[in-house]
Amino acid sequence: MADSKASLSIDGKVIAELPILSGTAGQDVIDIRTLGGAGYFTYDPGFLATASCESAITYIDGGNGVLQHRGYPIASLAKEADFLEVCYLLLNGNAPTKAEYDDFKSIITKHTMVHEKLAHFFQGFLPDAHPMAMLCGVVGALSSFYHSDLDIDKPDQRMRSAHRLIAKMPTIAAMAYKYSIGQPFVYPRNDLTYAENFLHMMFSVPAEEYNVSPVAARAMDRIFTLHADHEQNASTSTVRLAGSSGANPYACIAAGVASLWGPAHGGANEACLNMLEEIGDVSRVDEFVAKAKDKSDPFRLMGFGHRVYKNFDPRATVMRETCHEVLADLGVTDPLLDVAMALEKVALEDPYFIEKKLYPNVDFYSGIILKALGIPTSMFTVIFAMSRTVGWISHWDEMLSQPGQKIGRPRQLYTGEIDREFTPLKDR
Ligand code: CMC
Repeated sequence: MADSKASLSIDGKVIAELPILSGTAGQDVIDIRTLGGAGYFTYDPGFLATASCESAITYIDGGNGVLQHRGYPIASLAKEADFLEVCYLLLNGNAPTKAEYDDFKSIITKHTMVHEKLAHFFQGFLPDAHPMAMLCGVVGALSSFYHSDLDIDKPDQRMRSAHRLIAKMPTIAAMAYKYSIGQPFVYPRNDLTYAENFLHMMFSVPAEEYNVSPVAARAMDRIFTLHADHEQNASTSTVRLAGSSGANPYACIAAGVASLWGPAHGGANEACLNMLEEIGDVSRVDEFVAKAKDKSDPFRLMGFGHRVYKNFDPRATVMRETCHEVLADLGVTDPLLDVAMALEKVALEDPYFIEKKLYPNVDFYSGIILKALGIPTSMFTVIFAMSRTVGWISHWDEMLSQPGQKIGRPRQLYTGEIDREFTPLKDR
């Protein structure tokens, strides 16, 4: 992999020869692992130019709007595969055969129930607790059910954890919602697909029959697929860092949930809907666009922009299509959706957004779809977390399977006080 070398000189003196590594696609990287020996560390807060690991799961070319999982373009996967096929692909490296798919589907379906004791954890939350707070706590609590007999050095045991997490996340997510509205928890049903089952656990009640809408199930499945993985984003990097110490995988996934919650990451879909509510009416769109452009105003258009995609977000292209399909199929009319469409139009045509390459991202459209499906705003990020669980656990598994895996331990540029003499409290 090392084709050439980079020389690092300081004041004209070469202090290190650093190998340049090439992957199968994407930018080459300079391997700086030996730089510490030459007396230097690199400085890259926010990881703007740092490859933190080697990975064969997902490839992104942000400049050209490319996203591929295991080599397959996201648009093909979203249109031609279902979410469980994508889960299998991410976890195992190849698309499943029919027999492998049936087997995988059966394993996931049979792991959807949670231990009855897990339900008790919810009783400790206030009814108005944010469902992401509940998800974070309850997923972390899963580690107490699966810890003593779990050997993360064994690939089959890691895979079993992955299956459990993929299967149980929708159950836990729906329980968080049911708890928040005071309805009884709904058990999963083995005759439903993954997406249907989630909608069933969210919306059915014991008092009457609930039929899952095929439009809603298809849209839900597509939302899951489009959020399944996104290489080394903040939450995935968090899961990797937590897992690098050998920590319990369920606790690592809880760390991923925490990181995803922020409005700059997975919290953007909820923040986007809250923003649409704040705008309230199409007549106020220009006012908010002006606020977003004003440097003295911290307001940003939620659901616009991306750290990696600087031309377009390929997930947003598919999600936009789905969004328009869902709105037409369901015949939904909602003033907020009009605000969203007006905002999309203004932002796509405004020079500020064009010059800064700020486009509607996946969360802009997923928020609108979820709203149209009747999903409460506070559940948006929970649904993102459910979808991303397969990505998180695939990266965790990949990391632990790599030879010579090391605990993640970044360095720092220290700018604090040094060598101060300490005065005892009585003399201060
Ligand atoms: N509205 C208005 N201006 C913006 C926005 C926005 N949403 N996003 C970036 N800018 C401006 C920013 O002010 C800056 O301007 P200038 O160059 O004059 O200082 C320029 O664009 C570059 O912004 P940045 O913050 O340096 O870019 P970044 O790559 O660090 O941040 C981002 C990316 C996603 C955090 C940011 O675009 C943002 O906060 N967007 C809104 C939140 C959002 O929708 N996040 C979801 C991302 S998609 C889901 C996921 O993958 O997690």
